[in-house]
Amino acid sequence: MLSFLKKKSKSFLQVDIHSHLIPAIDDGVKTLESSIDIIKQLSEAGIKKIITTPHIAKEFYPNDQTTILGGLEKVKKKIEELGLRVELEAAAEYYMDQHLLNKLRNNEPLLTFGNKYLLFETAFLNKPPFFDEVIFEMFSNGYQPIFAHPERYEYLADQPEFLFELKKRNVLLQVNAGSLIGYYSPRIKKMAKWMMKNELIDFLGSDIHHERHLSAFLKYRQSKDYQKLQTLRLLNDELL
Ligand SMILES: [Fe+2]
Repeated sequence: MLSFLKKKSKSFLQVDIHSHLIPAIDDGVKTLESSIDIIKQLSEAGIKKIITTPHIAKEFYPNDQTTILGGLEKVKKKIEELGLRVELEAAAEYYMDQHLLNKLRNNEPLLTFGNKYLLFETAFLNKPPFFDEVIFEMFSNGYQPIFAHPERYEYLADQPEFLFELKKRNVLLQVNAGSLIGYYSPRIKKMAKWMMKNELIDFLGSDIHHERHLSAFLKYRQSKDYQKLQTLRLLNDELL
């Protein structure tokens, strides 16, 4: 059994679907150098494809296709120059607000990856009043929503069973590797483990903004928990 896991681990989770590696457009990496440094280390750790997802939040990070795809081109150019063997794509992490709801209602094109996957996050303390409406609009527009790091939201701590309901509604759930290793807090680690036990994880993400997140992600990949994660059917590698 152990040798089976060891063999499988070499080719497990080769795609990362959540990070902030376009320089200076959100609270992620600030320079091209640090972006490349992190990408290089991810590649050395066995990551073959990185889908980086800058924040789009009208109030805080008013990004759009131009800032994200323009930034992507600069990073990709450097990757090619250096001959790094890693594929880089970009989508976005959409903050659930009235602006997102309006965009969906107006059928404005959104940045997605894979099979029309749409990564979204919400406020940390309170569940947005239009949560259900946004999810409905996402499906109506042909998107497949992926809820970023549900284990981190305060408002879900008292009602984790809401995640079962979301799964029934076909919303996919993405957990941060750092959560499973206790990077954020013991409460968040407990919730992430609970999700793992209840097979509520569809994607693992690094959510790397900087070197400390990278260290947590790489540390997680060396952990026993990571071995256990391999028994779940995660969807990351279907994006290769
Ligand atoms: Fe993020």
